[in-house]
Amino acid sequence: MWIFAFLFFQSILNVFSEDLHSSLYFVNASVQEVVFASTTGTSVACPASGAPPASLRWYLATGEEIYDVPGIRHVHPNGTLQIFNFLPSSFSKLIHDNTYYCTAENPSGKIRSQDVHIKAVSREPYTVRVADQKAMRGSVAVFKCIIPSSVEAYVVVVSWEKDTVSLNSGAFRDLRVST
Ligand SMILES: *[C@@H]1O[C@H](CO)[C@@H](O)[C@H](O)[C@H]1NC(C)=O
Ligand SMILES: *[C@@H]1O[C@H](CO)[C@@H](O)[C@H](O)[C@H]1NC(C)=O
Repeated sequence: MWIFAFLFFQSILNVFSEDLHSSLYFVNASVQEVVFASTTGTSVACPASGAPPASLRWYLATGEEIYDVPGIRHVHPNGTLQIFNFLPSSFSKLIHDNTYYCTAENPSGKIRSQDVHIKAVSREPYTVRVADQKAMRGSVAVFKCIIPSSVEAYVVVVSWEKDTVSLNSGAFRDLRVST
């Protein structure tokens, strides 16, 4: 029973070859999305590794091996993918908002990490607005908080106010008002 449990455990963690001293495994396999600020850049460790040390390579989800772009993107010898900070005008979807994966290869063989979506967000000033609504007297008017799509996923509505008085309606994108 113990042996079975042990073998099962090992088979999840490692891919063994005939050489039992060599292995390949995934680290942080749950990291599927990295969102970073364009002002700081980011470093993403390859979520796969091995013993003896595996050779780590990064690819785009399309299968293209990625190349270093000086000052923009670099793969360190330890397999960490670094994306440098950049000005919003230098945004490139191919580099700054794309799906990558990494592979680890050693005498055990080769494994591929899960896809990791790496996405930059710009901390640019933005404004939200509310459009006028018409409603029949006695019915409910629904006001929508309109957030620019570039930041929509990262903006949370914290309150609704009328003439600077909080309406205490909770943090919803839509505000329902009885007329
Ligand atoms: C990856 O795992 C290591 C240790 O298991 C941990 O220290 C590190 O914070 C993790 N990184 C991420 C991005 O979750
Ligand atoms: C890999 O090397 C880079 C640059 O020296 C370093 O910033 C990063 O923390 C290293 N990553 C790991 C996982 O050791």
